[in-house]
Amino acid sequence: MTIILGIESTAHTFGVGIVQNGKILANIKDTYTTEKGGIIPLDAAKHHEKISEKIYEEAIKESKISKKDIDAIAFSHAPGLAPCLIEGMKFAKKISKKLNKPVVPVNHCVAHLEVGKITGAKDPVMLYASGANTQIIAYEAGKYRIFGETLDVGIGNFIDNFARYAGIGFPGGPKIQELAKNGKTYIELPYKVKGMDIALSGILTNLKQKLECGKYNIENLSYSLQETAFAMLVETAERALAHTGKKELLLGGGVACNSRLQEMCKIMCKERLKLEGNETKLFCPDRPLLVDNGAMIAFLGEIMFNAGIKISDLEKIDILPRQRTDEVIVSWK
Ligand code: ATP
Ligand code: FE2
Repeated sequence: MTIILGIESTAHTFGVGIVQNGKILANIKDTYTTEKGGIIPLDAAKHHEKISEKIYEEAIKESKISKKDIDAIAFSHAPGLAPCLIEGMKFAKKISKKLNKPVVPVNHCVAHLEVGKITGAKDPVMLYASGANTQIIAYEAGKYRIFGETLDVGIGNFIDNFARYAGIGFPGGPKIQELAKNGKTYIELPYKVKGMDIALSGILTNLKQKLECGKYNIENLSYSLQETAFAMLVETAERALAHTGKKELLLGGGVACNSRLQEMCKIMCKERLKLEGNETKLFCPDRPLLVDNGAMIAFLGEIMFNAGIKISDLEKIDILPRQRTDEVIVSWK
């Protein structure tokens, strides 16, 4: 019986989750938002510092456990915005000292993939589509490998940036999804797939120009944005499935909440059966596990803890803001 506390703080979300034997007992979070403009890392970090104790207490209350029963404190030490990561680490160390329990440093991207297995996926290719990250990841030959990724901006930031430009606020994803439902005409946009990778900034510039010229309405532009950018994600995800021979596609990240993206992935999986004779199952966790959250950090933290990964000397703990998914040393599999 292990109980692990997980702390997430890589970007705008501060979350605390509690997991016991793979079961999520609590998953509480609070997200820093801005009226206008993007995330200011130092302000987000201040938000995390202010809110941390409250979120922690709420998670404890929700889980109905006693603090002394916690076996270890997992926290996301990579990758992310340095000031935000530091707040998470400070808080993890504080709790570790108070409870006299070790710390487990967890990679945020790998946590997205591992927690997705709660849906029943065993060895999936994951399409991780969030604000800052857009990667196709799968575990193969001892590492979590990146089979494809964005060469410039993340898919969520791309959508948010266009939404902000169009004056429809932040976060843009859900709003663009609603507008797209009323789009009737597809407007040609650049389609940028380079091998297994994608590029989005050229499409963003093109969309802004099209909006600026006044010839196109926002509904049709939103519709075309989704159809184009999501087709690029689905194409590269399919290529990774074909390359690895894996038979499961798992969605992760906030943009995976999008119903059209989910639908396109479903169609692709069905067509793989028809065209390739290769049955591919689609798995998609519920929204609280898709977006950034503490439960996924606790979930992977527990797997690592049970494999003997824990640090008691707090001096040895640090953040790795730029760690790539394929740099994670996997000693727990
Ligand atoms: P990262 O995980 O890369 O650090 P993040 O913290 O910004 O980035 P998430 O919390 O996973 O990422 O997701 C936030 C993003 O999800 C935002 O860009 C938001 O616009 C997008 N999003 C949320 N709901 C939808 C939706 N229904 N359709 C499209 N995008 C969505
Ligand atoms: Fe994330």
